[in-house]
Amino acid sequence: MTDTPALPLNDGNSIPQLGFGVWRLEEADAPKVVGAAIDAGYRHIDTAQGYDNEAGVGEAIAQASVARDQLFVTSKLRNGHQGYDSALRSLDESLGRLKLDYLDLFLIHWPAPEHDRYADTWRALVEARKQGKVRSIGVSNFLPEHIQRIIDETGVVPAVNQLELHPAYQQRDIREWHRDKDIQIECYSPLGGQESKLLEDEMIKGIADAHGKSTAQVIIRWHLQQNLIVLPKSSKPERAKDNFDVWDFVLSGDDIAKIDALDRPDGKTLPQPDENNQLF
Ligand code: A2P
Repeated sequence: MTDTPALPLNDGNSIPQLGFGVWRLEEADAPKVVGAAIDAGYRHIDTAQGYDNEAGVGEAIAQASVARDQLFVTSKLRNGHQGYDSALRSLDESLGRLKLDYLDLFLIHWPAPEHDRYADTWRALVEARKQGKVRSIGVSNFLPEHIQRIIDETGVVPAVNQLELHPAYQQRDIREWHRDKDIQIECYSPLGGQESKLLEDEMIKGIADAHGKSTAQVIIRWHLQQNLIVLPKSSKPERAKDNFDVWDFVLSGDDIAKIDALDRPDGKTLPQPDENNQLF
C-alpha cells in the first residue's frame, strides 16, 4: 500500500498530504465508513466537534487494523466553545469522545470575529500543545487579518489554515500569503462540495480519460501537485477508496494549466470566513 506523502509543518511535525474528511457523516455510520477508509490506506482523518461524529470516528480508530501512532487525527473547536477555559475543557471532551490521549492537530473551526474570542482561544491551544494534548495547532476559515492578530498577540504561528479550496475557487493570493508565513493550507470541499459541477466538467473528464482515471482523482491530484493538503470526503466506501488511488499518475503542466483556468471569483460554495457562521 502506498504511504501517503507528508508535508512539513512549521513546528517540526509533518502531516500526510491526503486525508479523509468526515463532515456530514452520521455518527452511526462513522465506524464503518472511517474503518473502510483506513483499510483503503488513509492515515489522516479530519473531524470536528461540530460534525457530531467524534465518538463514531473514535470507534473506528479503536478498531483499526493500524496502530494509533500510524494515524494523524484532527479535530476542531466548536464556535460556541471559544474562550480560554472553555476551549481547554472542550478539547478534553473531544479526546474523551475520540478515546485518544492526544490529537495530532486541533483547529479553531471559524474565527467568529463577532464574538472576539479567537485570540484567547488561540492562547488555550498554545497551552494544550505545551501540555502534550495536541501535537500541532492551527486554524480554519481564518482570513490573513485574523491570523496576523493571533501571531502579533502570541508570537505563535498556526501550523495550518483549513479553507475551502478547489479548482473553481483557488484562492491564489491567499495561498501566497500563507507560503510567506510558512503555514500549510488544508483544502476542504476539494471536489467542489455537495452540489459540485466540477465532477461533471467536460474538460476535466477529458484529462481524466487521457490518464485512465476519474474526474475526482484528477482534481485530488491537482491539489497534491501544488503542495496543498487535500481532504476529500465521501459517505460511500467505494468512492473513498477511489479517491485514495491517486499515486500512479502525474498531471502534466498543460493539464494543471487547463484546470487552473477554471478559477472563478464567485466559485465559493460555503460561508465566507468572517460571516456569522451558524454551521458549527
Ligand atoms: P457522497 O458522500 O455522496 O459520495 P467534497 O465535499 O469533498 O468536495 O466532495 C463533494 C461530494 O462529492 C461529497 O459529498 C461526495 O458525496 C461526493 N464524492 C466524493 N468522492 C466522489 C467520487 N469519487 N465520485 C463522485 N462523487 C464523489
